[in-house]
Amino acid sequence: GDSLYKAMLSRGRTFAGTALTLRDEPAEPKIVHQEFNSFTPENAMKWESTEPSRNSFTFTDADRYAKYAKDNKLQIHCHTLVWHSQLPAWVANGGFDNKTLIAIMENHIKVLAARYKNVCTRWDVVNEALEEDGTYRKSVWYNTIGDAFLPIAFKFAAKYTDKKTKLFYNDYNLEYNGTKTDGAARIVKLVKSYGIKIDGVGYQAHLATEATPTSPGAAPNTSVLEAALRKTADLGVDVAYTEIDLRMNTPATAAKLAVQARFYESVAKSCLNVKRCVGMTVWGISDKYSWIPGVFAGEGAALVWDENYNKKPAYAGLLKGI
Ligand code: XIL
Repeated sequence: GDSLYKAMLSRGRTFAGTALTLRDEPAEPKIVHQEFNSFTPENAMKWESTEPSRNSFTFTDADRYAKYAKDNKLQIHCHTLVWHSQLPAWVANGGFDNKTLIAIMENHIKVLAARYKNVCTRWDVVNEALEEDGTYRKSVWYNTIGDAFLPIAFKFAAKYTDKKTKLFYNDYNLEYNGTKTDGAARIVKLVKSYGIKIDGVGYQAHLATEATPTSPGAAPNTSVLEAALRKTADLGVDVAYTEIDLRMNTPATAAKLAVQARFYESVAKSCLNVKRCVGMTVWGISDKYSWIPGVFAGEGAALVWDENYNKKPAYAGLLKGI
């Protein structure tokens, strides 16, 4: 039958993935098995989950994902090493000096990378380092270390991961080919300028299919998306869509779901039109558990399966785009 990942492989790409939270929903493993050859742990590998206090690591949850991947022969897009969010207060508000914060970063990357060395196909090394205007986000990382935190993080990741592991910079709103996309290109050049390995840029693709209170406009069309992907792909790195969801003002209607299906098709097409676009990941399976309604009030219905695990029109759209 139909399969998103088989379609991607037949087009010479390496994966179709989903964000995954292991939960008691028998429909989910079946869909994963049929449709995906990769997943991104939705929360389990984040700093607050893995190093809640200094040098005290908790891997019970993350290990379940490593085992799930192994048992089911799936790739893991490991997520994420250096980020300002879901970062425990002991790091974010610790008041550490430059040297100490770099040591804390190295230790975290070292321990995570070593534990999941033959498990992670890709790692999001740095997540969301940019403001909307393309300048650096004023996170504890940037405020303490300066923009050097980016090459430093990639240097540690390269040192402690397997050589085969692809190292990604990942961010949202890179899809409009604006100043924020320029910022991502600047990051790729910065890391490369030190001779440090960076393999890819992840375009999260948390997009809206119509104007919503939290979105500047509807999702960009195929050619805008394609140009945005090329802006970093042309620098000699892979690109991927890493967290796709296409939200709308709820409730959904048949008309809105038809528009959404076309946008899913455009997103997929833009990836297929760019040689270096290696894969796509949707940010969850069913609308039942999507993070969107909890964060964007009045918005939702963003994924490809509805709350009852039925395929939405978006499924056919996505497949058509591949
Ligand atoms: C979200 C998860 O989906 C939620 O469960 C969690 O409460 C917050 O984080 N960008 C990212 C993801 O890189 O890690 C975020 O995931 C969504 C935005």
